[in-house]
Amino acid sequence: MILDGKKTSEMIVKRVAEEVSKLPEPLALAIILVGKDPASQVYVRNKIKACNDAGIGVRDYYLSENATQKEVLQIIEDCNRDDSVNGILVQLPLPSHLEQDLIINAIDPKKDVDGLTIINQGRLFNGMEAILPATPKGVITLLQRYFIDLSGKNALVIGRSNLVGKPLALLLLQKNATVTVAHSRTTNLKELARKADILVAAVGKPKFITADMVKKEAVVIDVGINKVEGKIVGDVDFAAVKEIASYITPVPRGVGPMTIASLLENVICCYRMQVKGREMRNLL
Ligand SMILES: NC(=O)c1ccc[n+]([C@@H]2O[C@H](COP(=O)([O-])OP(=O)(O)OC[C@H]3O[C@@H](n4cnc5c(N)ncnc54)[C@H](OP(=O)(O)O)[C@@H]3O)[C@@H](O)[C@H]2O)c1
Repeated sequence: MILDGKKTSEMIVKRVAEEVSKLPEPLALAIILVGKDPASQVYVRNKIKACNDAGIGVRDYYLSENATQKEVLQIIEDCNRDDSVNGILVQLPLPSHLEQDLIINAIDPKKDVDGLTIINQGRLFNGMEAILPATPKGVITLLQRYFIDLSGKNALVIGRSNLVGKPLALLLLQKNATVTVAHSRTTNLKELARKADILVAAVGKPKFITADMVKKEAVVIDVGINKVEGKIVGDVDFAAVKEIASYITPVPRGVGPMTIASLLENVICCYRMQVKGREMRNLL
């Protein structure tokens, strides 16, 4: 069965739009794009469109490839101080002369819509309320939408980035899956994959997961986005693996739209955290 990320995301966007329309103040997301990376430009365009669909305002900052660290930090600082900005998103990757960690961690954790500051990642690690990175959050939402039980299941996450693999492993663990994380130095990947009830590929290599690596009836989540001959494909050999898996995400129309939907949900989460922060300040 196909896990339809597109359809699920449309339902979420509709729900977010309803919620946004009922809030006492308008919401706005600041999006900072440095340089002209074509993939990043497409991602930013999609995020802006989704915000428009949900009634969330956008402040877009397009900076040249050679923007300085100071310029980027100044924009973040201005957005941190501006109460009418609820979320701040720095599109990654940044050009190599910019210090990504420093820039991301300059974002107020209550406006960290991508959940990438060490505060939100630490909160996630601790099982505390946190803004979650959009892709792992979207994967969990999709699994829940199809009532896929994770408790006690063997989950293999291939990929250990801070953006996808690590936070997704923590979220699966929170849902009581038995989680293994594989990466480029893993020596027995095929053996691990064949034992997985839940198999997540977040590698960035087309057809990396072949049918002989998949357990019968496994749930297969394809996070990968790769361009092959002008077409977007995932990490999984979809045509062959769909015959074996019980559930599988397609690419496109799988995890990608769920990421965008989760981003919109996160703008509301940020807003709620800011309101809570203001209420706490008023109490003191
Ligand atoms: N659908 C979406 O919305 C969405 C969102 C974000 C990312 N993505 C896509 O998801 C993929 C992963 O993204 P990312 O940001 O996590 O990428 P990343 O930072 O490049 O991480 C890739 C991971 O794959 C591992 N890997 C590479 N070769 C491997 C191999 N031969 N065997 C096992 N593991 C291997 C790497 O291991 P090491 O750590 O050992 O190097 C690394 O942990 C990319 O295709 C990206 O475009 C999609």
